[in-house]
Amino acid sequence: MGSINGAGKFGKVKSHSKLAHVVLITNQFQKMVDYYKAFLGAEASHENEIMSFLTYDDEHHRIAIAAIPGTGPKDPRSCGLAHIAFSFDTLRDLLQAYTERKQHGIEPLWSVNHGPTTSIYYQDPDGNHIETQVDNFETNDEATVFMQSAAFAQNPIGTDFDPEDHIRRLAAGEDEAKLKRVEVGPRLVAEKLMGYGCGGIFFYYLVTGASNCGMYA
Ligand SMILES: [Fe+2]
Repeated sequence: MGSINGAGKFGKVKSHSKLAHVVLITNQFQKMVDYYKAFLGAEASHENEIMSFLTYDDEHHRIAIAAIPGTGPKDPRSCGLAHIAFSFDTLRDLLQAYTERKQHGIEPLWSVNHGPTTSIYYQDPDGNHIETQVDNFETNDEATVFMQSAAFAQNPIGTDFDPEDHIRRLAAGEDEAKLKRVEVGPRLVAEKLMGYGCGGIFFYYLVTGASNCGMYA
C-alpha cells in the first residue's frame, strides 16, 4: 500500500461510500426504541438500559437510540436535522410498509408526490420526522434531470396523494410507473415559500396550523 497523500487545499475530499447510521438522543428511551423497532421492522444488534443499536439490513446499526440524562424536549424551531429518509425499491413496498405501520398504530403525517419521489412522512414519539419514499424515476440520472427542470423549480414541494387511493389503484392493476409519475404542476404556496428559503415549509406549517412542521424535501 502506498502512502496517503491528500488532494491538497483545493482538491476534493474523498467522499464516503455510504451513510452509515443516525443516533437519536431521547428522554423517553423505551418508547422510542419500541417505536423504531416497529417502524423499521428492526431488531437490536446490541441493547442495554441506555443504548439500543437497531438493524434491519446488512448494516449492524442504521439507527441507534440513546438515553442521555438531561435531554430536553425537541424544539422544532432549532437548527439541525429536519428528517431522516428511508427508501423502498417499489411503490408496492412503500404502501405495504404504510399498511403494516398502520396495523401497529403508526399513522402518517403527510403523503406527497415530490416529483422525484413518492413520499410518506411520519413523526416519532419525540417529534423527529421520518420520510419513507420510493424513487419515481428508473435512474438517478433521470431524477437529476427532472430536479434541474423548470417543472421542479415551479413546484419543488409536490402534490399530496392518498395512500389508500394508491393501494386501491394498484390492486386494480394500475401501473406503478404511471401512479408515481403524476403531473405535479404548480402548487399555490410553492412560489411564495421559495421566498422564505429553507425555512419556508416550516413557516407554511406554522401559519396554516398543520400539526406537522419541519422542512420537507
Ligand atoms: Fe427528504
